Amino acid sequence: MENPLTLRTRPLRPDDGPALAAFVRGCGVLDPNSTYAYVLLADRFGDHGVVAEDEGRLLGFVTGFRDPRDPRTLFLWQIGVAAEARGRGVGGALLDAFVALEANRSAEALETTIAEGNAPSEALFRAFARRLGATFTPVGAYASALLDGKPEERLVRIAPLPRPAKPLEA
Ligand SMILES: CC(C)(COP(=O)(O)OP(=O)(O)OC[C@H]1O[C@@H](n2cnc3c(N)ncnc32)[C@H](O)[C@@H]1OP(=O)(O)O)[C@@H](O)C(=O)NCCC(=O)NCCS
Repeated sequence: MENPLTLRTRPLRPDDGPALAAFVRGCGVLDPNSTYAYVLLADRFGDHGVVAEDEGRLLGFVTGFRDPRDPRTLFLWQIGVAAEARGRGVGGALLDAFVALEANRSAEALETTIAEGNAPSEALFRAFARRLGATFTPVGAYASALLDGKPEERLVRIAPLPRPAKPLEA
């Protein structure tokens, strides 16, 4: 039997950048970006992202931001779970923690893209929408031609997100 995970989630810090870059390079599925990109994201958008750790070991992460064109929408850029921890609820727990962050919890909708053929990713987001009683709606795509011939990224919108438990301060 697998050991139970003691999952702890927290927002990103700039010093998570190098570990996130290495994690993504080792993931094999996610598009790798430079270490600089993750340092920048963790510094400037760290309050909008999450890492999940098990006794200090990085098990997964989410990066995202409020859409500057419409901050009611929370955009999820990347989510990844360590290969050995997949299928154990970490991805779902990361999504719950992501939408519950102080900086994210007033958002009304989550948007993300799902690469054509990425069945675990589609299952994760569909299960999340189902659990919230929210709709899962395809709203567009970034065509393969824009992505150096990589599979099309289908844009989906999940709404509504859960309302904060207590009213937000003005
Ligand atoms: C996508 C990913 C984050 C899912 O994380 P995870 O921790 O395995 O997901 P969970 O265990 O929380 O499962 C969430 C739901 O997805 C389903 N699911 C997860 N992996 C699946 C798979 N390989 N096939 C079918 N369903 C799957 C689960 O059954 C669950 O649905 P349920 O609640 O109806 O049972 C993980 O597979 C991963 O890191 N993949 C590589 C990176 C990636 O593709 N990221 C997404 C694009 S940014």
